[in-house]
Amino acid sequence: MNAEVQFNPQGAVEAQAVAGISFTPEARRLADNNIVGLAPPSNELRPFTMIRAALLDHARATGTRVFAVTSADPGNGKTHVTANLAMAMARIHPTVLVELDLRRPALGERLGLPGDYAGVEDYLAGECPWSATRACIEGLDLTVHRVRRPRLDAEVLLAGDALPLALHNLQATQSGTICLIDTPPAILSDDLALIARNVDGILVVAEEGRTAKAALQDIAHTVSPTPIIGTVLNRSISQTARRIDYGYYQSGYQPA
Ligand SMILES: Nc1ncnc2c1ncn2[C@@H]1O[C@H](COP(=O)(O)OP(=O)(O)OP(=O)(O)O)[C@@H](O)[C@H]1O
Ligand SMILES: [Mg+2]
Repeated sequence: MNAEVQFNPQGAVEAQAVAGISFTPEARRLADNNIVGLAPPSNELRPFTMIRAALLDHARATGTRVFAVTSADPGNGKTHVTANLAMAMARIHPTVLVELDLRRPALGERLGLPGDYAGVEDYLAGECPWSATRACIEGLDLTVHRVRRPRLDAEVLLAGDALPLALHNLQATQSGTICLIDTPPAILSDDLALIARNVDGILVVAEEGRTAKAALQDIAHTVSPTPIIGTVLNRSISQTARRIDYGYYQSGYQPA
């Protein structure tokens, strides 16, 4: 816990903390939320290590490193895929996980992060430095920036100068850090368009039998000119039926 960050009764950040926190997630909490990235290698982890390999190849081939994960509709599994992929990535490579679903944040709750230090929305509102929103995850080369409280004025925060600045700084790091961003669904707002213009590529999570082809085309239009660099088929019916031990995913990964 970072004692430097103080909140007033309204929840506004009072101190300009720079340190963020160190955090050890509870295995039980992760398991309850189907997050397998910190657990020993398993069949559930394997789809994420496959997507990790493809994404690392793409990053090295193109010199890009900031990727947003989205989907057409609410509940397709964006946060699930992003959190698991980030943890799988962080087992072998420096990784930053950023939550930019400001309207319906879930990452803090999913990982069990405390609520009493600054969130991404506080940084975007100019109330604290980016570093104050950092949670360094023990046991992995992973830094998480989660949203502390929902913000209905998300588009105002996402359209400002603070987001490009933070992501530009991540792009400029020497360590080759991969940044994965959890986003809102494409259908509900133009938040995704505001995020897309600051990232190198988009990963789309689709659900078999639920995500329409036209919705995927709409996402490509929304994020253009940022490329869709891959798709992840979540909760694949045919895959589950064919090989249950292979998990719920197919990675239809297409390098740009
Ligand atoms: N492949 C999966 N295996 C097990 N649980 C899953 C899987 N995909 C998603 N879930 C669970 O389904 C629920 C919805 O997933 P998640 O919150 O990741 O979707 P989302 O697209 O981020 O939703 P939102 O649009 O609200 O942000 C969560 O409880 C998540 O843990
Ligand atoms: Mg989500």
